[in-house]
Amino acid sequence: MSAAPHKPLVFSGMQPTNTLHLGNYLGALKNWVRLQETMDCLYCVVDMHAITVEQDPKALAAATREVTAAYVASGVNPTHAILFNQSAVHEHAELAWIFNCVARMGWLGRMTQFKEKAGKHRENASVGLFVYPNLMAADILAYKATHVPVGEDQKQHLELARDIAQKFNNDFDVPGFFPLPEPVITGPATRVMSLRDGTKKMSKSEDSDYSRINLTDDADSIAQKIRKARTDPAPLPDSEKDLEGRPEAENLVNIYAALSDTPRDAVIAQFGGRQFSEFKAELADLAVSKLTP
Ligand code: AQP
Repeated sequence: MSAAPHKPLVFSGMQPTNTLHLGNYLGALKNWVRLQETMDCLYCVVDMHAITVEQDPKALAAATREVTAAYVASGVNPTHAILFNQSAVHEHAELAWIFNCVARMGWLGRMTQFKEKAGKHRENASVGLFVYPNLMAADILAYKATHVPVGEDQKQHLELARDIAQKFNNDFDVPGFFPLPEPVITGPATRVMSLRDGTKKMSKSEDSDYSRINLTDDADSIAQKIRKARTDPAPLPDSEKDLEGRPEAENLVNIYAALSDTPRDAVIAQFGGRQFSEFKAELADLAVSKLTP
């Protein structure tokens, strides 16, 4: 007997580990705002994920409120979508335990985010950091959510959530009990890179504040960070193909395209052949106009 199809439902969340940045906004939040217009959405502040690394409890509580404020400031509308923090709903932790018993060590051992975050100190990493993707699967599947808007870096965790759902459905002979959630990874900036190194992801935990634009930065800081962003000496290329091998140039073009809702080839058509100093000035004006409100 096959189960009835699942009702479309969106779930996503962010960790209150620091101030949200442009990568969080363009990779995920912008899509959250778009989806809430047409679908039922649950948006969560995943405070239990944050404690996989050490946190000061008072600072974490404050950051949880600040991230919620950032959701609302970015356009998430609490009358369209449900906003809540993960630790307020105990079913997330309960289902995560069941998934700890469904997921396989080998699956989790392949997660690149664990390898990057634990780095050389793997033996000292918390067990929570290792099983983090099981809690993420529980966040989504506790509501039988079908769509998960995230940045490119979360694709592998989403695939794991699908594997867990599938194995649970098979092991307990309940076909279709859990949906296989679909990642929603769209737009020209699904992986925003550091402004200091175009090969590294823009991240909350990177030491240099100049590597990212925080959603709380004022106009002067935004403009200064874009002016100082690392670039190569050549002018902007005339074709998209020539962005290959120029990660910093590609990153700034992607950011411009995403902020202006313009296709990448149109940005290249507009700025191809021009110097970075001119492009950065226009990008700074655009970023300030979009982000400061
Ligand atoms: N650089 C990025 N480009 C596009 N999307 C990104 N996301 C994060 N960084 C980028 C997306 O933002 C959402 C929330 O992520 P998170 O807070 O749960 O944790 P994260 O992915 O680990 O984010 P950070 O900024 O890199 O935090 P730290 O440094 O604490 O690990 C996700 O949808 C993510 O894809």
